[in-house]
Amino acid sequence: MRKKILIVEDEAIIAEDMRTLLEGEGYEVVGICSTVEEAIGLAHRKRPDLAIVDIVLKNGDGVKLAEEIIKEMEIPVIFVTAHSDRATLERVLKVQPYSYILKPFEARQLLGIVKIALDRAEAERRLRSLTRLLEFLNLARETIIRAGDSREISLKLCREIAPMFSPRCALLLFEDGEVSHWELNLGPLEEKFLRALKNGDLPACLKESQEEAVYLEDKREECKDCPLKELCGKGGMVLMRFVSKGVFYGALYLSPPMDFRKEDLHYIKGFSRDLALAFEARMAESEAVQTLTHLQTSLSFLQAILSSMREMVFAFDREGRFTFVHAPAEEALLVKKEEIIDRRPEDILPEDVVEKFWEAFEENRKGRVVNYEYSIEIKGERRWYSVSQSPLLMGGEFSGAVAIVREITERKNLELKLQERERLYRGLFENVPVGLYRSTPSGELLEANPAFLKILGFQSLEEIRKIGAASLFAEPGERERWRKKLEKEGVLDAEYRLRRKDGKLVWVRDLARVMERDGRRIYEGAIQDITKAKENELKLEKYVSELKRLFDETVEALGAMVEMRDPYTAGHQARVTELAVAIAQEMGLEQDKVDLVRVAALLHDIGKLGIPAEILVKPGKLLPQEMELVKLHPTISYQILSKIDFPWPVPEVVYQHHERLDGSGYPRGLKGDGIFPEAKILAVADVVEAMSSHRPYRPAYGIGKALDEINRGRGKLYDSEVVEATLAVFKKGFRFRKSFFAPGRPSRKI
Ligand SMILES: [Fe+2]
Ligand SMILES: [Fe+2]
Repeated sequence: MRKKILIVEDEAIIAEDMRTLLEGEGYEVVGICSTVEEAIGLAHRKRPDLAIVDIVLKNGDGVKLAEEIIKEMEIPVIFVTAHSDRATLERVLKVQPYSYILKPFEARQLLGIVKIALDRAEAERRLRSLTRLLEFLNLARETIIRAGDSREISLKLCREIAPMFSPRCALLLFEDGEVSHWELNLGPLEEKFLRALKNGDLPACLKESQEEAVYLEDKREECKDCPLKELCGKGGMVLMRFVSKGVFYGALYLSPPMDFRKEDLHYIKGFSRDLALAFEARMAESEAVQTLTHLQTSLSFLQAILSSMREMVFAFDREGRFTFVHAPAEEALLVKKEEIIDRRPEDILPEDVVEKFWEAFEENRKGRVVNYEYSIEIKGERRWYSVSQSPLLMGGEFSGAVAIVREITERKNLELKLQERERLYRGLFENVPVGLYRSTPSGELLEANPAFLKILGFQSLEEIRKIGAASLFAEPGERERWRKKLEKEGVLDAEYRLRRKDGKLVWVRDLARVMERDGRRIYEGAIQDITKAKENELKLEKYVSELKRLFDETVEALGAMVEMRDPYTAGHQARVTELAVAIAQEMGLEQDKVDLVRVAALLHDIGKLGIPAEILVKPGKLLPQEMELVKLHPTISYQILSKIDFPWPVPEVVYQHHERLDGSGYPRGLKGDGIFPEAKILAVADVVEAMSSHRPYRPAYGIGKALDEINRGRGKLYDSEVVEATLAVFKKGFRFRKSFFAPGRPSRKI
């Protein structure tokens, strides 16, 4: 490219000579001016590489003009003048012209000065350009070193440093291949570029270039649709790529100044590498900080977990030495916590525990987790611990073990107690002579002890299971009846018959209950073989019934003996008995007392056996001495009956049957409470029966009169309650049985 020269000379001949000379040497003379204003205007328009200025112009000062174009436009100036006085020279030197030539001068002299000045100007421009670039790179490096993080680097670089070197720039930061941050200084391109970035549409140069730095011009096909096309088209763009060890950290686009030369990319490449390394270092540092933070968090978390753990935690190295201890209760360690590190289990623990530890440790070496329990004595108390011992792997290699130890003394003691209880229960279950069983409502026999099997003659539970519990019952449907009753009452005490394996029936007493076990309804019970007792009971019942029948027959026979001697009162004792029993029952007496009344009534006149028969059968009124003899019959009754061992006081009741409440009775004249209640009943029944019956010496008075008589005597002669009951009995329809009545036969009331 030809160098452009401006000539400011008001002597036209000289000016033209210079033009001819310079153009002849290959320079382009952009104009010849004779005034300052004209020269400034042309300099602005043409931007010459050099101005040759005459110091003294007819209408201006060449020095002032030079001062302006040197300062404002950095255009080097060569002065030409005919004046060489000291004052002029001093003024000229102040504006630092590139050279100074006195008129008249030779052509060679001018050309030599012009060439030197142009070379020097070029060298100076180059120097300024490189200085700017280097200043920019230095500041950028400083920023990288001092900035806190990648974001701060990008902010400073793009907003403060880059504009010193480049009017426009764009910085993109990447993370994991995606744009994570950008700073733009692109003017009107910015919006378009941002939109493209958001669409993931990166410039082709950025994707394709492998260089640390390239100079881009809009010449490629791929650049047609590039959002940076306009930018690169205006004098090109410098693209820096920050890549280190294959990781792409970001890119910086810069529009370089006019004097930027492609060979300066050499410096920029070095800077790109430095910046990539800085990003890498920052990333590594950030990762290290993150790792450290993560480790600290993990450590705090671990400490928090440990402090909340009631378990002890031990770590061992590959030789089995303690490397870590967490023990909330230090006493379980047997030594002080700080003394345990670096020691081996055999230095501290009892031999049996050490043995278990090493067995587990050997398994740990094979990568297995081992659980075991041990116990030690602490302050005279046996304490139990459970251990889960796991291999400790570092980088996949066995590097020791971790043991988590939990105290289980309470659980263990409970377990031992339960075992003991279970053992006792099992012993009882197996050996108790009572048959124990558990069954389901549907009849499945769950459990049965040996005694149960023995009672029913089976060898095993399986045998019964095969036939079902229901078939053990003597009758079909009996188990279902038993089940319903058990369900209704919850607890059942029953006696029934079961069928043995050999078909024989056995009587059992079964104490059963319904219960829930593990959410399941079951029947649990105990059976006892009561076959013998039952047979004895049945025999006894039969025997007692036999005895009773014998007794009753004997009593009746005795009663009959009296009536054989006194046929006129035949049936008297039987009828008295009938009424007396009815009165006793009406009064609510217990069965035992009713039986006493019955037997006493049947025999109450047995003493008549001791009265001479002629008195008993004598018709008409008895003489007083005969009457006295008759009154002896209760005493004789007593004497006879006293010889018999009754289960009741029959003789005494009979003895009192003619006594009256007011003491007017005989033979002893007893009163009120001195008379047995049963005797009071017997007395009333005796009177009512005698009065209502026919006698040889009088007709029957009838029931009405008899009842009137006892009603009149109530409370005085007869017990009120007894009278009341007697009236009630008749009111309810009591009548003497006719068969006992024998009218017309001679009899006497006694
Ligand atoms: Fe009597
Ligand atoms: Fe009597």
